Amino acid sequence: MPIRVASSTDIPDWIALRARLWPGTSRAEHRAEVEEWLAGTPDRCIVFVAVGAERGLLGFAEAALRHDHVNGCETTPVAFLEGIFVRSEMRGTGIGAALVRSVQAWAIERGCTELASDAALANRDSHAFHAAMGFAETERVVFFRKRLGET
Ligand SMILES: CC(C)(COP(=O)(O)OP(=O)(O)OC[C@H]1O[C@@H](n2cnc3c(N)ncnc32)[C@H](O)[C@@H]1OP(=O)(O)O)[C@@H](O)C(=O)NCCC(=O)NCCS
Repeated sequence: MPIRVASSTDIPDWIALRARLWPGTSRAEHRAEVEEWLAGTPDRCIVFVAVGAERGLLGFAEAALRHDHVNGCETTPVAFLEGIFVRSEMRGTGIGAALVRSVQAWAIERGCTELASDAALANRDSHAFHAAMGFAETERVVFFRKRLGET
């Protein structure tokens, strides 16, 4: 299936897929975020989409160069897979792998020698996918938050 760089014509489909991956994000926030992604230059970030024979996107991958320290990595900048999603009925057909390969090629062109990613502890499907794509697990992290201004 064709993989190409996302463009403004993809926004509606892309937001629909993002809403399934990150349901806690509002449509307005998704809209603002995709516009920010599209405004980014390829030296900073990239979004690839998988295009089906019919209308509609089958999946997407968002990646960016991170210049701050990335857990488990040794170089900087590190290419980071910020989000990847494939429509559920199309999973297991190689689309996720094709998206990661496109991200890898983009990262190598930018001189990166490491590609990093993360996944929720409970997302075992994603862990298995990452392992199949050649990622090695580096760290398990728990995020904390404390509200300030409260006793
Ligand atoms: C993770 C996800 C992107 C994988 O996409 P996909 O198109 O199904 O992956 P592919 O078909 O290209 O599979 C690539 C490899 O990963 C393996 N893989 C994918 N999903 C797997 C699973 N659930 N369990 C075990 N292996 C899996 C495949 O077997 C394949 O390995 P192979 O090359 O050795 O045959 C997709 O399942 C998805 O969108 N999940 C929901 C969103 C999500 O969790 N995103 C990641 C957030 S960190």
